[in-house]
Formats: sequence, structure tokens, C-alpha cells
Amino acid sequence: MKKVRKAVIPVAGLGTRFLPATKAQPKEMLTVIDKPIIQYIVEEAVAAGIEQIIFVTSSTKRAIEDHFDRNFELEYRLRQKKKTAEMKDILRISDMAKFVYVRQKTPKGLGHAIYTAKDVVGDEPFAVMSGDDIIDARVPAIKQLIQVYDKYQDIVVGVTQVPKKETSKYGIVDPIYIDDKTSEIKKIIEKPKVEKAPSRLAVTGRYVLTPEIFNILGKGKKGAGGEIQLTDAMAEHIRKRAGYACTYSGDYYDCGNKLEFIKATINYAVKRKEFRGPLKRYLKKI
Ligand code: UTP
Repeated sequence: MKKVRKAVIPVAGLGTRFLPATKAQPKEMLTVIDKPIIQYIVEEAVAAGIEQIIFVTSSTKRAIEDHFDRNFELEYRLRQKKKTAEMKDILRISDMAKFVYVRQKTPKGLGHAIYTAKDVVGDEPFAVMSGDDIIDARVPAIKQLIQVYDKYQDIVVGVTQVPKKETSKYGIVDPIYIDDKTSEIKKIIEKPKVEKAPSRLAVTGRYVLTPEIFNILGKGKKGAGGEIQLTDAMAEHIRKRAGYACTYSGDYYDCGNKLEFIKATINYAVKRKEFRGPLKRYLKKI
């Protein structure tokens, strides 16, 4: 049985929902308190045992490469100022995993972004983690998916319950429950009309895929919004073979959305001892 060792993190999207903040900086580098969104995601991968991170990036996303690389000038200055804790923290970031970068030349959709990583992934199962979705969980969400993969040996998507009226914003699965957290997927539909949604289980940025998916993505079939959709490729894979949904335990934040980003910030802030009291008092006051 091949282990899931690699995670593909697509970060080549335009981030138009977060303009003007994303005019000159990557959305994935926006900070939730003092860490960029992308670092939360890489930390989740590493805590789940992932050894190699493959970023699918683009020309406007250099800051991400710099963030996960060494910065000798900063290290030199921190050493001079004897800022040991900060120095350790900075060094840890570049040592967390092996980082590989591939370029998606035009943002043709999530499915196309994943296909760009084909040669680096090779012939083994791999995780996919959306570059702007944070999941705050005791057991890393991607680890929960890998556990399902290890058991059933086929593709797994991470899902969470969303309100009925929001189903049209997501990929929605039609589940056959195996237990309260795991289901086999009968079908999966990208952004269904609310009345046509087969459940409230929404696909939320975490996947374990097998290399067979590249044969489907390679056909370059366009779906919703004229983009090459990962959901459509997974739907075809499920029709031919099988697929599973893991209702992970954890709180999901789509940080490409401004309100969700604010909620993520408040969630992590109230968990930090130094902010909890003053922040709660302030929120009450306003
Ligand atoms: P989104 O669906 O949030 O798209 O992508 P986006 O283009 O970044 O943002 P909006 O909708 O214009 O605001 C989810 C993840 O997939 C990546 C994005 O960078 C993000 O991390 N992505 C999306 C790609 O890498 N390539 C693409 O072609 C599309």
C-alpha cells in the first residue's frame, strides 16, 4: 500500500473576491493574526505526516516562495539583536517540509492547477489542499481524510454540512453512509441549484486523490465558469470506480471570502491567551 507523502497546494488563482487587497499580493499571504493563511495550511499538512509540498503557483505569487525559503539578511539581523525566539520561528518555517514549485501559466481552474503537478506527483496517491481554506481541527483535517484513504484505497473528499441555501456555492455530494463520518459517494455535483442539491455536504478544500485522476484531467474538459473543474474529474472517477466523503471534525473557513476571513481571525484570536480577554471586551463594547 502506497502512503500519502505529497500534498499539492494550488495557489495560482486570481483572488478576485478579495480585491483590492490582492491587487499586488497573493491572497494566500494575507495574515490571520500573525501568520499567512498558507502557513496554517502547510502546518496542517506537516502535522498529518506529509513530507513534500508541491505549490502550484504563478508569476504574481513569488512572496509564497520567499516565505518558505531562508532569509539570510533577516536571520543576520535577528542574531545581532539576540532575538532568539523569533530566529527559531523563522528557521522552522523553511525546514517544515520539502517545497517544490510548479507554474500554472494561466488560471484555467482548480482541475487544471492539479494537472500541472502531474509529473512531480508521479505514480502515488496524494493530498490536495486548497490554498485559501483553513480548517481548525484537533486532528488535522487532511489526516482524517488520509485515514479514510488508508482504509478504502480510493479517492476521498473532505466535506462539511452547510446551510441548505448555500449549497449552490459548493460541490455537493450524494452520500451513502458507511458510518456517521464516512460515506461512499453516489454522485458529486458542482454548484447545484439549491432545490437540486442531493445533501448539505459541501466539498471544502481537502482531498486525497490517486494518479488515475490525471488521465481524466488531461482531457481538458471545461465545466462551470468555463474552467477545468476538479469536481467534474472526480465525478467521472466515481462513476468508473468509487469515491468516499469524510465529514471531518473541525471548523472550516473559506479565507478567500472576506467575512469568513474575519471569522477565522476572531476564532484564532480568542484562542490566544494574550488576546482573549481584551478582544472579548472590545467586541462586547462595539
Ligand atoms: P478559488 O476558487 O478561491 O479561486 O481557488 P481564486 O481565483 O483564487 O479566487 P477568486 O474566486 O477569484 O476570489 C481556490 C484555490 O485554488 C487556487 C487558488 O489560488 C486558491 O488557493 N487556484 C484556483 C489555482 O491555483 N488555479 C486556478 O486556476 C484557480
